[in-house]
Amino acid sequence: MSELSQQIDQAVSKIRSISKIVPEVAIILGTGLGGLVKEIKNKVEINYGEIPNFPLSTVEAHAGKLIIGELGDKKVVAMQGRFHRYEGYDYRQVTFPVYVMKKLGARILMVSNAAGGLNKKYKAGELMMISDHNSLLLGSNPLAGPNDDKLGPRWPDMFQTYDAELMKIAAKIAKKLGIKLHKGVYIGVLGPNLETEAEYKFLIAIGGDAVGMSTVPEVIVARYCGLRVLGISVVTDMCIPGHLEIANIEKIIGNAARAEPDLTKIMSSVVREIKL
Ligand code: HPA
Repeated sequence: MSELSQQIDQAVSKIRSISKIVPEVAIILGTGLGGLVKEIKNKVEINYGEIPNFPLSTVEAHAGKLIIGELGDKKVVAMQGRFHRYEGYDYRQVTFPVYVMKKLGARILMVSNAAGGLNKKYKAGELMMISDHNSLLLGSNPLAGPNDDKLGPRWPDMFQTYDAELMKIAAKIAKKLGIKLHKGVYIGVLGPNLETEAEYKFLIAIGGDAVGMSTVPEVIVARYCGLRVLGISVVTDMCIPGHLEIANIEKIIGNAARAEPDLTKIMSSVVREIKL
């Protein structure tokens, strides 16, 4: 058994000793986007610090809790607060909870994040469904290293990484609720600094609609271990060359908070509508 598999099993047994619920849907909530947690019923909350091999969340606005409970007719496990490479964790640590949530029983991963808008048609405070991503600027890969064939294949396919059926459900729900939901390509970067104007030009030239410092590593691992994925970005600031303003973290978190109710409505309705 690989060391990673052993670490996953240790985390899973600890979590199972606290909650017997077998989650069907895993949820990762991005910066300032933890509101969905309020809708989870009959929940238990587990601080990351209590779970063996879990890194600890340090970033502002990240609570650092695993929440297990019920959302509509589904059993869910949600991460309130996630890990980033720029905090000093490696991508194995950043993605460790995804393996754990899969092993707990999840078949679907829903993930949100705060992102910079690269598409001129977007406005700060709007939502973008991630139709595809670009991982090539991350500089490393969460699957680099020896492969454990029990967890997933050595060369996992990334065709239709974001699940077409889940995207269709989300689009239908957004339309019904009258919420604007763009659809675009998310480019994952390391951070922690925001980008220069030259970098934004480059990200736009390579086809980006949004840029952010999370999500891509977790989604790679989710696909690797067979989870279906839905991703939604909150556009917290616009990054259009020639129109740049100083983006500060308070403003980004403020815009995330303003868009959060719409995101929560969409995500909770999607969970309810998913057919497993
Ligand atoms: N870059 C620029 N703006 C952002 C980002 C980013 O990574 N995340 C949220 N807003």
